[in-house]
Amino acid sequence: MKAIAAAPRAITDYQGRSAEELFKRTAEAKRALGNRVMVLGHNYQRDEVIEHADFRGDSLLLAKLAAQHADRPSIVFCGVHFMAETADILSRSHQTVILPDMAAGCSMADMAAIEQVDECWDELGRILPVEETVLPAVYVNSAAVLKAFCGEHGGITCTSSNARAVIEWAWARCEKILFFPDEHLGRNTANKMGLPREQMIVWDPFKPNGGNSAEAIRKARLILWKGHCSVHQMFQPAHVDYFRKQHPDIKVIVHPECHEDVVNKADAVGSTEFIIRTVSAAPAGTAWAVGTELNLVNRLKKEQPDKHVYFLSSTVCQCATMFRIDASHLCWAMENLADGHVVNHIVVPDDDKRWAKIALDRMMAIS
Ligand code: 13P
Ligand code: SF4
Repeated sequence: MKAIAAAPRAITDYQGRSAEELFKRTAEAKRALGNRVMVLGHNYQRDEVIEHADFRGDSLLLAKLAAQHADRPSIVFCGVHFMAETADILSRSHQTVILPDMAAGCSMADMAAIEQVDECWDELGRILPVEETVLPAVYVNSAAVLKAFCGEHGGITCTSSNARAVIEWAWARCEKILFFPDEHLGRNTANKMGLPREQMIVWDPFKPNGGNSAEAIRKARLILWKGHCSVHQMFQPAHVDYFRKQHPDIKVIVHPECHEDVVNKADAVGSTEFIIRTVSAAPAGTAWAVGTELNLVNRLKKEQPDKHVYFLSSTVCQCATMFRIDASHLCWAMENLADGHVVNHIVVPDDDKRWAKIALDRMMAIS
């Protein structure tokens, strides 16, 4: 067995190295680790990272893989912080989850803080019997403590691929849903389910009662947190119009984090995995305008050369935080692991973990 190196290697030693060197060294560390590691890569990751992934997928698929592979003591998660936290919650206690760059967060996840959600719950409680009438449903794009809040209050988590099933589950148990932090995923899903507009309200955490009258709150069946994805909000209805004009036969496919005005004009809407599957399964020669993150679209273009794949926006829509994970951070995390050092260990506190797992397990049971 290899001796453990005295001190972890420094990330600064990896900056400015050539792509070839980083690729070789990462592959070598992975070979040395063998079945002791599983590398997971979200669909938005760069090619230089994805090429080392054992599995790639959307947030639901990656969460399932983390839960299933108890045989891998380490999980190197190439994605963003909330995804790595979810992997830590769903994996076993003997497993360690590593996020190659701790700065890989999610701007949407930062739009709901536990203090704001507690405050919202208290305000709702002054207007109605909140525990009996409101069920909290949190998008996985959120901190673990918010998932724990849901677990503790009879609630549930959801992803972009099961939001409808989760909302159905919640309405079967409760009159109202508090859906956070993405108002668009909630609204787009409820629109498809036919919920009348007057039964949806938006909760602005910076206004008293979220900016709503007590009467509007009593009437609402869906309370949508005012939060959004800074990447997906860039797509506009005019982008869809432009492509339809240029290519009359084009199909438009978008992520449900887009604004409803974009989603309503699209031919198909779904998770990153749904988008990849749908375009991949389409007949050769078909044209697709894709409204989601740029790395995914560029890879789809490369991997589906028999189709015409276009990026829906005219301006760059890259997820700046997903982009933080690069070849040097991955190589740094993998070589340290091969040396016996765990860097950037993601650890969800036990109390949050227990309740968050309850909310995640409820989702897994219906996914
Ligand atoms: P998916 O679950 O569709 O992969 O989406 C995650 C995400 O962050 C989209 O912005
Ligand atoms: Fe978060 Fe948007 Fe990036 Fe997805 S694309 S990780 S929602 S900031």
